[in-house]
Amino acid sequence: MEVINSIAELRLRLASRGRIAFVPTMGNLHHGHLALVSLARQHADCVVVSIFVNPLQFGANEDLASYPRSLQADCEGLNQSGADIVFTPSESELYPVPQTVQVEPPPIAFDLCGKHRPVHFRGVCTVVAKLFNIVRPDVAIFGKKDYQQLFILREMVRQLEIPVEMLAGETMREADGLAMSSRNNLLNPAQRMEAPRLQRALQLVVQASRQGRRDFDAIEAQTTQYLTQLGWIVDYIAVRSASTLLTPLPDERQLLVLGAARLGMTRLIDNIEFAL
Ligand code: PAJ
Repeated sequence: MEVINSIAELRLRLASRGRIAFVPTMGNLHHGHLALVSLARQHADCVVVSIFVNPLQFGANEDLASYPRSLQADCEGLNQSGADIVFTPSESELYPVPQTVQVEPPPIAFDLCGKHRPVHFRGVCTVVAKLFNIVRPDVAIFGKKDYQQLFILREMVRQLEIPVEMLAGETMREADGLAMSSRNNLLNPAQRMEAPRLQRALQLVVQASRQGRRDFDAIEAQTTQYLTQLGWIVDYIAVRSASTLLTPLPDERQLLVLGAARLGMTRLIDNIEFAL
């Protein structure tokens, strides 16, 4: 496995590498990331993983400075998972001049997480488009844990005709159901004990929907109240159409419940796909 931090060197190395699979990340890797790398391994001759904490996707009052960084441990995990190349550009390598050209995401990027993080998905689309142009992958892999991100990036690829196949990896969880996340490291022991409740609350929403309730607004409000009473600061709990991420039409049966909520300073997200 090679670790490369210059765009020019990466392009040189990738010139004759056959089918390329690409897994973009921000590092502090866990088994969820590594499962995407294993999936990538099955789809290509050469697996490229990028590690770059992208300032463009963090708002001014967000956790860019405290975002956990662990390059050495990341490289060990990646080596074991079958990555061929780790691309770790510096900020000045990826953004040598201010990135005034950006990719404007679709309207759904300003709903759900985008309501609370208004610059986030513009930053994500911009860095991913840029990384796609640098790596030129045949296939790119993203996790369903960040379902809205996956949805928006698929839309970007489709509308901009970017020649890459998009694959999704399932959400990897801890034994107690908590979705793996780089931010879980920031939870104190009491918060870590409480954290799996977000997933359990989403399961209650699925149960209520399966029992025939279609008053999603009321279910969302009840779930928000339940978590708030337990000390969570809830950004949203939302039942949406799995195919549009919009409010489900009366006859829609492929649904998704998404949630984002904070414990202290740490923001957690999760979702469950379900069919009625
Ligand atoms: P990051 O949060 O590091 O996640 C990198 C990839 O890992 C994303 O596709 C994410 O959905 C996936 N992932 C995270 N946790 C997962 C889990 N528990 N199970 C399965 N997959 C999981 O998402 C980003 O970085 C950035 O926004 C990025 C796309 C790299 C652009 O900067």
